[in-house]
Amino acid sequence: MILGLPRWRIMRDYSDVEMQIQGVLDGEPNRTARLATVACLLSQAFEDFYWTGFYMVDPDKSEELVIGPYQGTLGCLRIPFGRGVCGTAAAERQTQVVEDVHAFPGHIACDSATNSEIVVPVFDGDDLIGVLDVDSTRPAAFDETDKDALERIAGLIAS
Ligand code: SME
Repeated sequence: MILGLPRWRIMRDYSDVEMQIQGVLDGEPNRTARLATVACLLSQAFEDFYWTGFYMVDPDKSEELVIGPYQGTLGCLRIPFGRGVCGTAAAERQTQVVEDVHAFPGHIACDSATNSEIVVPVFDGDDLIGVLDVDSTRPAAFDETDKDALERIAGLIAS
C-alpha cells in the first residue's frame, strides 16, 4: 500500500511513452511499422504489461479479427467479433476494461497467467481497423487512466 492505495491502483504515467511513440511514428506511413512500434514501446514502458499488441480486422473475412504485431506469449490467431474481450470491443466499438478476465463471459484464455485486461478499439476515421489489447498477470490492473491514455495512443495509429 502506498498513500492508502493498493499497489495495483497506482496510476500509470503515460506522458514519456506517449511522446516517445509520437516521435518514432513521425513521418512513418507504413501501418505495420506503426503497430509494431506501439506494441514494442508500450510493452517496454510498463513492467506489468504481460501481453501487448493488436488484433486487426481481417479485410477478407467479415467480422473477424486476426493477430497483428504484439509482444508477449503466443496469442490465438483469430477471434470472431463478439467473442471474448477483444471480440466484444470490436463488436461494440468500445473500450473494455476487465478487472477479472476469468469472470468475463466467453473470455479466450490464450495464456492462463493473464488476470485482467484492457482492449481499446482502433479506428481509421469511422472505420474500425483493429483493437489494442493489453493483458496483465495482476488482477484489476487497468482503470480510467489507462483507458484515456491507450485510446489517445490508439488514435495515433491511422494518422
Ligand atoms: N484475452 C483475449 C484474447 C487474446 S489474448 O489475451 C492475447 C480475449 O478474450 O479477447
